[in-house]
Amino acid sequence: MSASTRQMHLGAFLMETGHHVAAWRHPSVQADAGTSLRANIALAQAAEKACFDAIFFADNVAANVAPGATRVARSDRLDPLTLLPALAVATDRIGLVATVTTSYNEPYHVARKFASLDVLSGGRAGWNLVTSDNAAEAQNFGRAEHIGHAERYERAHEFYQVVTGLWDSWDDESFSRDKTTGVYYDASTLSVLNHRGKHFSVAGPLNVPRSPQGWPVVIQAGSSEAGRNLAAHTADVVFTAHSNLASAQAFYGDMKKRAIAAGRAPDQMKIMPGISVIVAESESEAQERFLELQSLVDPEAGVAMLARMLGNFDLSAYPLDGPLPELPLTDSGQRSRQALLTALAGSEQLTIRDLYLRIAAGRGHHAVVGTAKRVADAMQEWFESDAADGFNVMPADLPDGLTRFCELVVPELQRRGLFRTRYTGTTLRDHLGLRKPARSGAQRAA
Ligand SMILES: Cc1cc2nc3c(=O)[nH]c(=O)nc-3n(C[C@H](O)[C@H](O)[C@H](O)COP(=O)(O)O)c2cc1C
Repeated sequence: MSASTRQMHLGAFLMETGHHVAAWRHPSVQADAGTSLRANIALAQAAEKACFDAIFFADNVAANVAPGATRVARSDRLDPLTLLPALAVATDRIGLVATVTTSYNEPYHVARKFASLDVLSGGRAGWNLVTSDNAAEAQNFGRAEHIGHAERYERAHEFYQVVTGLWDSWDDESFSRDKTTGVYYDASTLSVLNHRGKHFSVAGPLNVPRSPQGWPVVIQAGSSEAGRNLAAHTADVVFTAHSNLASAQAFYGDMKKRAIAAGRAPDQMKIMPGISVIVAESESEAQERFLELQSLVDPEAGVAMLARMLGNFDLSAYPLDGPLPELPLTDSGQRSRQALLTALAGSEQLTIRDLYLRIAAGRGHHAVVGTAKRVADAMQEWFESDAADGFNVMPADLPDGLTRFCELVVPELQRRGLFRTRYTGTTLRDHLGLRKPARSGAQRAA
């Protein structure tokens, strides 16, 4: 695609009641919407009507019951791989992306579930491959302690190799199911993985046929050195958090270079930073909604969210109106986010209270409050200056935040020729401009 026709990709990052930590308390928000099928269907259909590439759900495999969490709306959530098949029935085109951790899972289960979702949805599945950033998960999976940062990434590499190897078990024509000859599948096309590695032993093959996309789209979201290295080798899409243009540009350039060094075409790895948006017809209305949400932030909830984003660090001994203490490099959480937030606090001399209020809506992602023109200007600037191939859109409150984005910002982007006005393909790979991977089964055949 030439530079003039290049268009941005948009994911709708749907976080229960909205990304703002206090959104669940706003009068327009249904507080239990995160666990409502009807509410999730309405969001998915709104995003599809606006031609988003995908909807995206984050996940953790532990309830958030840390101090202060009684005031945060993210302690309960549905399993995204149970929710997405239901949303597949209620939609036709939009991509369906679920987060599933490589830290506390088995690759056979994960390969099977995403291949199944890809078959059921006609090629719309995407896997956000994460290394868990939540230490509490370990104790739900037979471990006393969280797996350390380096080992989480080592395990993630091997996990990916096993999953993609299993996705290559069959070719598109393996299951002839020929009633006349009585032959159900063609054994000569079968590839048996027989993987024996440090973390996993998996024989294969997978008991799901090759799915429409060959491999569901793989998304990666870690940004530390280890995270970038993993993404360069595995990711079709990279989700990332940057609070300013310069940092997003540096990340974008670095990741495209790493993709080339890994032998990949740089346009086959799409970089999609998050963007936290509060949009309205006028600047004053957008500011009013922002201030309404900010006024609902309970200090306990703010500190709990900040502590989690700083890498599961206990802030309770520090005064709210004092500076952020020196933090040890996190082993249990997200290193890149810890670095982003400590840099933000340091450069602007923010107190703990200032910092949690600053990130209440977007947790450190780029945040824009204003009219559709202001939001579209910000997106266009990042898109046209080598900082982003698209955005993971993070509405502050749901459903209004998504509805307003679809009604106000999407038409503005379309008027500027920056976003599609209709879907031209049927699969998530089609929407993202990603090639279907060639099957590597020949070398693997038993
Ligand atoms: C946009 C974004 C979304 C993420 N979603 C999840 C998630 O849903 N569940 C999870 O366990 N980790 C999630 N992560 C964390 C990553 O998997 C990874 O643990 C973390 O980014 C590690 O960061 P690091 O490489 O900077 O240490 C997310 C990260 C980003 C940037």
